[in-house]
Amino acid sequence: MEWTTSELRQSRGVVECYREFLPVSPSTPIVSLGEGNTPLIYCPQLSKRVGRGCEVFVKNEGVNPTGSFKDRGMTMAVSKAMERGAKALICASTGNTSASAAAYAARAGISCIVILPAGKIATGKLLQAFAYGAKIIAIDGNFDDALRIVRELGDGHEFVIVNSINPDRIAGQKTAAFEIVDVLGDAPDFHLLPVGNAGNITAYWAGYRDYRSHQISTTLPTMIGFQAARAAPIFYNRIVEKPETIASAIRIGNPASWKQACAAIAESHGAIDIVSDEDALAAQSWLAKSEGIFVEPASAAAIAGLFKCCDSNEAAHSFRRIPEASRIVCTVTGHGLKDPDPITQRMKQLNKVDATVNDVRRAIGL
Ligand code: F0G
Repeated sequence: MEWTTSELRQSRGVVECYREFLPVSPSTPIVSLGEGNTPLIYCPQLSKRVGRGCEVFVKNEGVNPTGSFKDRGMTMAVSKAMERGAKALICASTGNTSASAAAYAARAGISCIVILPAGKIATGKLLQAFAYGAKIIAIDGNFDDALRIVRELGDGHEFVIVNSINPDRIAGQKTAAFEIVDVLGDAPDFHLLPVGNAGNITAYWAGYRDYRSHQISTTLPTMIGFQAARAAPIFYNRIVEKPETIASAIRIGNPASWKQACAAIAESHGAIDIVSDEDALAAQSWLAKSEGIFVEPASAAAIAGLFKCCDSNEAAHSFRRIPEASRIVCTVTGHGLKDPDPITQRMKQLNKVDATVNDVRRAIGL
């Protein structure tokens, strides 16, 4: 195939990479920012925590173009929206979907409306929505209220909804599972991830099943999802009217893909579990300091979850008798820089010293 210079410069993105598994035709205009192909990082310290010769890998979705896994679904959803002649996108969001939708709308040259719970969006994510030029509406309500409003506005056909209730979003997000199998050579034994609106666990499970049915992989992983303890509708099997957590990305009380998440968990013989905010923040800090991977608090729920599986008698799925040499993948969904607030407190400890070698030596503790 002949490539023009501009095509050569453009990295391919997940739709081009996996088009035979996605609902695209040669005439679909692909709106891409070069998302996907994120690193699957072997983590020696995490592997040691699990023991029994197990290997733990972190799928670092924070290095996508807007810093979260949402870009995989957004390239697909916005490409299909453009194919159908869309003029505007709309979404409800806890932050990352809005950042991603705003970026891909800008890329496509169409407008984007984002409906957000006022005061509950991490600083970096809100900043992104402004930077990419979205029309931002902050409501006096939570994510579940925002999604209810978006569903109604989307019925009017003025807007294409790009939340994960749009099946194109789920299709695009399946590509993360494809990438993992492509790197490992088969599906992992366990896959751990945070759960909010439950689109991602649905997408991963669909991706693993697609590859299995095409005989690209021979097994399916056990899916284990983690919700924040005070925002855990699936775990408690009831709608949470006022969800609360410092992991604002997963502050959701009535997930749209609730049923699909339960199916993924049941079919994979997996589990849904909860982690406390304290444990998520401790895991965030541990992962940054022990493995060099800085993620946002919601993403750290997967790591706190792994620790719970290893250490706690209350774990929904204990790893104490995990088969030896199991391969475990934890998806970390968003970059740590998106949500600086929990860390900013610690920077207050920084004191100025005089600009002399001696003062600096003393400050280092030499
Ligand atoms: N991790 C991060 C960083 C997220 O932003 C989200 C969801 C999740 C995990 C959970 O994924 O909803 O597919 O179960 N964020 C959505 C948003 C709700 O609006 O950005 P899920």
